[in-house]
Amino acid sequence: MKFFIDTANLDQISEAQQLGVLDGVTTNPSLMAKEGITGKDNILKHYVDICNIVEGDVSAEVVSTEFDGMIKEGEELAELHEQIVVKVPMIKDGVKALKYFSDHGIRTNCTLVFSAGQALLAAKAGATYVSPFLGRLDDISTDGLNLISEIRLIYDNYDFQTQILAASIRHTMHIIDCAKLGADVMTGPLSVIDGLLKHPLTDIGLEKFLADYRKGNS
Ligand code: E4P
Repeated sequence: MKFFIDTANLDQISEAQQLGVLDGVTTNPSLMAKEGITGKDNILKHYVDICNIVEGDVSAEVVSTEFDGMIKEGEELAELHEQIVVKVPMIKDGVKALKYFSDHGIRTNCTLVFSAGQALLAAKAGATYVSPFLGRLDDISTDGLNLISEIRLIYDNYDFQTQILAASIRHTMHIIDCAKLGADVMTGPLSVIDGLLKHPLTDIGLEKFLADYRKGNS
């Protein structure tokens, strides 16, 4: 399972990279705004800065909602750096854009996916990644994990190569459950990745080991 961090914060991206388990980064316009990154030049520069920190794929989202605009933006984003994956929303022009990018060798991440039907369309259009938003489904009392399992079944039935990128991850159990269900990638905040580390028995056990060591070696 690949681990992506879902942020545009360079310090957090560096921290996750230093942990040695990071495979990529996802961003979106809200995450860029949260870091105060505005204006086209600053936004493009920020994507390059992220690519220079990590070794894996970096999703950069288009903000156009019609085909021609998405193609222009996506081609510009893809030219920025070989690690860039163009993030495209699951709307009709987005599906057309996914197909165009796929035909032109540009890797894509289809975002804002909330149903198996949308995921099937994204795969048919040749998306590199599909991003089902687990947490936002859970937020409206719908089982986000069930969607991951449906997409896994459908993609396996037809051997689609589109990778399932479990997004909108809110807590550590989302990661564990997605791993059990065979999601190819998860993207979440640093706090959730760090959360995987924690177990009280680890802390208690280490404290005891070190106390016993000190007894015989002081
Ligand atoms: C995915 O690529 C999105 O950036 C992200 O996971 C959305 O998560 P949220 O629902 O926590 O905003």
